[in-house]
Amino acid sequence: MILKSVALSQFRNYSDLFLEFDKGTNILYGDNAQGKTNILESVYVSGTTRSHKGSKDREMIQFGEEESHIRTVVEKMEKEYQIDMHIKKARSKGIAINKVPIRKASELFGILNIVFFSPEDLNMIKNGPSERRRFLDFELCQLDKIYLFQLTKYNKALAQRNKLLKDINFRPELRDTLPVWDMQLIEYGKKIIASRKNFVGRLNDIVHGIHKKISGGKEELFLSYEPDVGEMEFEEELLRNQEKDLKFGMTSVGPHRDDMCFLNHGIDIRRFGSQGQQRSCALSLKLSEIELVKSSINETPVLILDDVLSELDSSRQNFLLNSIHDIQAIITCTGLDEFVKNRFEINKVFKVVNGTVKAENSF
Ligand SMILES: Nc1ncnc2c1ncn2[C@@H]1O[C@H](COP(=O)(O)OP(=O)(O)OP(=O)(O)O)[C@@H](O)[C@H]1O
Ligand SMILES: [Mg+2]
Repeated sequence: MILKSVALSQFRNYSDLFLEFDKGTNILYGDNAQGKTNILESVYVSGTTRSHKGSKDREMIQFGEEESHIRTVVEKMEKEYQIDMHIKKARSKGIAINKVPIRKASELFGILNIVFFSPEDLNMIKNGPSERRRFLDFELCQLDKIYLFQLTKYNKALAQRNKLLKDINFRPELRDTLPVWDMQLIEYGKKIIASRKNFVGRLNDIVHGIHKKISGGKEELFLSYEPDVGEMEFEEELLRNQEKDLKFGMTSVGPHRDDMCFLNHGIDIRRFGSQGQQRSCALSLKLSEIELVKSSINETPVLILDDVLSELDSSRQNFLLNSIHDIQAIITCTGLDEFVKNRFEINKVFKVVNGTVKAENSF
């Protein structure tokens, strides 16, 4: 799929902007704090309805304004889709596809698939399990509409159960209602565990070969899913931990505590890997994501790289840039040196200066 254009009004530091992208490699460059990431964020919002930074809707509206608009045009299988987002201060955003308003955000599912890569992703292996779960969920939600539904239900049930666990301390009679949430948690939780298991298995098949190349044949990377509790044991464990959960006022078992393990020749990279190894693994994982999306939807996703090149050494930069020639990429950086030095093919260059963007001749 190709992201053809983005139009922004009163979004972050853009009063009014229209950009047309090339179907190949697009570079947005400029000094710090000029608005490069803001453009990427608007694209991400168009694809997923949310900010990649976790910002609230009202924070994306330009300072002093009441509302904001994002319009993106996506071409896919020779058809065009116009996605309109109308971001409001106090109400939920309005979304329309080809001018037809949609009621549920999930109707946007699958129109614009994005693989987003930021420097924080490079720390995914080093950091805590929540980031690895976020990775799993983001990917699965993009590829599987049913998973998105199940995860939403699970999270709601979990929040309700946790609230109830706390309330029971003050009103013991509420305890009778606990099984209602337990049942939902078990129903959706089991499905989440099964989907994650399957997904990590598929990812593992792809990541191994990619990582071998990145490491110059030296490393053998294997991923494994580490569920907090198995699908079959979830119900039993939830019951077994009920007293503990009541005491602490939170749910102690379930897929909300899952993790994913990275092994190189049997050694856990999360704990024992060097910083460079951990970053290479994260890079392999991201590149696998592209392959996985391609094979799942029979389309190439749009690759977005926010400031990652400067974080990689030149051999990894080379590897990354060489692996993305058949996919649309939107890349931000502060300078063009890396590209010039390595003579990478760039199709379109934009210079970003303080909320304005100028297309320059590519070279
Ligand atoms: N709601 C908003 N309204 C207006 N301006 C905003 C808003 N939110 C952020 N900004 C401005 O946007 C700028 C930051 O933009 P952005 O994060 O896109 O920069 P960048 O070019 O990616 O910089 P860096 O190279 O440091 O990553 C800041 O100057 C900030 O004040
Ligand atoms: Mg930035």
